[in-house]
Amino acid sequence: MAEPTTVDRNLAMEAVRITEATAIAAARFMGRGDEEAADRAAARAMHEALSRLAIDGTIVIGHAGGAEDEHLFVGERIGQGAGPEVAVALLPLEGPTIIAKGEPNGLSVIAMAENGGFLQIPSRYMEKLAVGPGLPENVVDLDAEPAENLTSLARATGAAISDLVVCILDRPRHHELIAKIREAGARIMLIADGDVAGVVAATQAESGIDAYMGVGGAAEGVLAAAALGCIGGQMQGRLVFGGDDEKKRAAALGITELGRKYSAPEMAQGDLTFAATGVTGGAMLTGVRTFAGCAITHSMVLRSTTGTLRYVEAHRNFANEARVQRAGA
Ligand code: FBP
Repeated sequence: MAEPTTVDRNLAMEAVRITEATAIAAARFMGRGDEEAADRAAARAMHEALSRLAIDGTIVIGHAGGAEDEHLFVGERIGQGAGPEVAVALLPLEGPTIIAKGEPNGLSVIAMAENGGFLQIPSRYMEKLAVGPGLPENVVDLDAEPAENLTSLARATGAAISDLVVCILDRPRHHELIAKIREAGARIMLIADGDVAGVVAATQAESGIDAYMGVGGAAEGVLAAAALGCIGGQMQGRLVFGGDDEKKRAAALGITELGRKYSAPEMAQGDLTFAATGVTGGAMLTGVRTFAGCAITHSMVLRSTTGTLRYVEAHRNFANEARVQRAGA
């Protein structure tokens, strides 16, 4: 096991403070039907919290919003400048639609690694396949048919195919995949949004989900790969290109093999820190609960060096926090 470095050791608790603050800001917009406002509030809160951090950070997976006051863009230098050089991958809000509708699995997510630790993404979408830890290497493969993968997963886990549950985003593009999985005899959990939680759930025995399959956001894919880099599990991702612009971006990033399959370590490697706070409740985390003058948040913090998974329940008192901030402490 690698020696701990400043990157992962000092940043884990800082990372969770950032996702907590972001989740609280986003939760104020839950169910209000305004995706843009929720997204902007989350991005602002994350930017503010990240700016105070003692790192020399560079954002490599950034905020996709297009608002004029956009923060957290790819390439932005972030943090106080002093401190370790860190590559930052983030999703202030996963995702705006979830929060606008009050759906489950809304998260604020951040991951950090040494520079060069994250795959830089040129495309909006990625094809994904993920399973939990403790299975033979390459037990499933993006190039295999769903029936083949399910047979192989069932054999490796000792389960019947009918015991297996596959999590998939509920999208028309997945109709064929869903039909094939049903035909193979496995069961399906369709989610409306939120595939970071879907992929991570495939690694958690208590989630009841055995595999994640389908096409979702590419940024979400890299963030999920960072989580798996800390807690185990296998994932493959393949970028899905929507048009020439994305192909040009790929060329600019030096990606020549457009159909390449990336393993989780090829998407997120090195000393990884991952933190996520629930904005709305879901399989992974409880959502933000607000009361007069305070909020309770529920987060997970992961480190690759030790493989530690911590759940953090924070009771945040806004009056005290404001007083401390005024005092500059
Ligand atoms: P929004 O960004 O629309 O709020 O939703 C987030 C999300 O569901 C991700 O979890 C997922 O990876 C992606 O959107 C899927 O994209 P699409 O909604 O375009 O199918």
